[in-house]
Amino acid sequence: MEDLIREIERYTIEIMENKRLRDESHDSGHAFRVRKNALDIAPNGIDRITLEICCLFHDLGRAHIDKETPHAQLSVQYALPLLEHLKVSNIDIILNAIGRHSFLNADDDDIYTIVLKDADRLDALGVMGTYRILQSHHTQEEVIKDFKKVLEFIDMLRTPNSKKLALPKQMFSELFLMKFLKERSP
Ligand SMILES: [Fe+2]
Ligand SMILES: [Fe+2]
Repeated sequence: MEDLIREIERYTIEIMENKRLRDESHDSGHAFRVRKNALDIAPNGIDRITLEICCLFHDLGRAHIDKETPHAQLSVQYALPLLEHLKVSNIDIILNAIGRHSFLNADDDDIYTIVLKDADRLDALGVMGTYRILQSHHTQEEVIKDFKKVLEFIDMLRTPNSKKLALPKQMFSELFLMKFLKERSP
């Protein structure tokens, strides 16, 4: 299983660090942080290998030239042949979570989808979340809009541990936004 995860990590880096298409806020570092968050918040009984794969592959579609198709759908298209090639178990569960990860919460989200969405949202908050927002926008208005959007993520978290992890990150993001608004117009 260790070998399988190393292979998944290798593909994640290879695809997401593609020089031409690299997106700093959705690089392999983001995928690795989402995995860590997910493992930290995962409830008992979840298959951790399946969860790791969901996280590592969830944004493969960001490293794609096609801007018309939703990236979650592209991630599924990228992931499927790799998962089949590696003879991974629970492919349906993994593709379902990846395909749903960027959409609003749904009542029929399974536990892998719920944990992936929470883990992904956690990386939009706190120091790294702030860095990701700042480096992906060109105007102050875009930055402010994005901060307000990610601060709404707090109410979308569904696992008990994600709410605990989110609190200090939320405080950092709120403080940054408050000071940003105050200091930009003296
Ligand atoms: Fe995504
Ligand atoms: Fe993501």
